[in-house]
Amino acid sequence: MKPKRIVRTLITLSLLAALLAVLYISQTSDPSNPHASIPEEKWIHGPKGHGYAVKNNQQPWKQCYECHQKEGLGGEVYCQSCHNQSGIKVVIPQKPSQ
Ligand code: HEC
Ligand code: HEC
Repeated sequence: MKPKRIVRTLITLSLLAALLAVLYISQTSDPSNPHASIPEEKWIHGPKGHGYAVKNNQQPWKQCYECHQKEGLGGEVYCQSCHNQSGIKVVIPQKPSQ
């Protein structure tokens, strides 16, 4: 093999390895979970975590429960069961009855 071909082969191989790495990483995050990319610690306790998101959008029944129920986690009960376990009292915005 000429030196040029060796270099080309090496480049091809490293590109292939990079592609495989990207594919692997994208597989490990759960596409059904929009907050999977947020570290758990931040999502639960962070100042801009789930509590902030809920208080900001005020519509968890629309933006959170549907998917959680589909994933078998449950609606508000799922939220509050963790709050109870953590010994905190959280008032979750309620769907207005109309
Ligand atoms: C795995 C545990 C867990 C789950 C599940 C959970 N929470 Fe929380 N939540 C917490 C903790 C812990 C806090 C306190 C935040 C902190 O530690 O700073 C909190 C705080 C909150 C707050 C802010 C309260 C305040 O006054 O600042 C809201 C609002 C809230 N949660 C809504 C929800 C909703 C809605 C869901 C379900 C869609 C949910 N939470 C699910 C653990 C959880
Ligand atoms: C499209 C789907 C989807 C939507 C929308 C969604 N979630 Fe989730 N959520 C999940 C899945 C799946 C899990 C369980 C995976 C896990 O345990 O990390 C989860 C887990 C959680 C947890 C517990 C995390 C933990 O580490 O125990 C909290 C808190 C939470 N969601 C809050 C919310 C809040 C608040 C909203 C709305 C603002 C919301 N989610 C919207 C899919 C969703």
